[in-house]
Amino acid sequence: MNLDNIAQDFNSKLVKITNESQLEEARIEFLGKKGQITVLFSQLKDLSVDEKKSFGAKINILRQEVTSKITEKKEEFADESLNKQLISETLDVTAPTRPTKKALIHPISKVTSEIEEIFSNFGFNFAQGPEIEDDFHNFTALNIPEDHPARQMQDTFYLKNSKNLLRTHTSNTQIREMLEGQPPFKSCSLGRVFRRDSDQTHTPMFHQFEGFMVDEDVTMQNLRWILEKFLNEFFEIDNVELRFRPSFFPFTEPSAEVDIGYYKENGVIKIGKPKNPADQKFMEILGCGMIHENVLKNCNIDSAKYQGFAFGIGVERLAMLKYGINDLRMFFENDIRFLKHYGFEE
Ligand code: PHE
Repeated sequence: MNLDNIAQDFNSKLVKITNESQLEEARIEFLGKKGQITVLFSQLKDLSVDEKKSFGAKINILRQEVTSKITEKKEEFADESLNKQLISETLDVTAPTRPTKKALIHPISKVTSEIEEIFSNFGFNFAQGPEIEDDFHNFTALNIPEDHPARQMQDTFYLKNSKNLLRTHTSNTQIREMLEGQPPFKSCSLGRVFRRDSDQTHTPMFHQFEGFMVDEDVTMQNLRWILEKFLNEFFEIDNVELRFRPSFFPFTEPSAEVDIGYYKENGVIKIGKPKNPADQKFMEILGCGMIHENVLKNCNIDSAKYQGFAFGIGVERLAMLKYGINDLRMFFENDIRFLKHYGFEE
């Protein structure tokens, strides 16, 4: 068998190869199981020991040459297709922007600024508290002592190697405000909160809006008026219907959960009073109450002189109700289609 003939045959075929599948055909023809070079090895058994040695060595050299030429060619093809791809994907950063592509505002940002506008007009200030919080400001000061079962009402994320946690509610800001200042207070805070919870109606991070007021003569009636006024303005209606249900929070006494009245019109949820009172439905939207005297004491406020209310609302819930968004998780999936549909222009 003439090894030179095989080498010549291979070389003349190689130069004509123009794509990867032809290259693969050639590889099989020469190096495959029944390839020209592979079968040479099976002929070795008929040779003498000396012949075996020298012929075997020659076949090995031929096989190595052919293999490395095929590999080289393969890399050439790969480079070529990468170059083609790079050329086709060129981005001209000097090209003018398309005028139709406007930045859009996320519904959470939109609702945040709506809330800020309404409560600023009521004379409330807005404060920011830390998202990484300590046990005292998130729990203890809010009348939730260690080992109190109320801690289990909120599934907390604790930080590793630290006594800190991710705040489970914006109430930490209320505590910080009261510790730092002197009554009267009329203050709000809005921001991210975190709980170990995830399904269609819960995400591990969501936004809460909380307001509180402390003065010498603040009552539950002030709370009700503020909430009604706020919700009417927020939903752009004048007939909001609220239902206060007795409830429990460790930091308020008495406590209430508030349901907002709605009805359905052609399958769409509308907030307010329906024409036919029988169509009135309610859903829970917030928690509130009169600040517990222990909380005031923990913040060095004279609870014989001062009292106050507090309430907390989920911002996503408000956005869903106002703008007809029906899956909570969509808010945080960063899908541009969500923003295109529900986003707002500046
Ligand atoms: N902090 C409560 C919660 O996250 C909400 C709340 C705030 C209730 C203020 C009453 C008063 O569930």
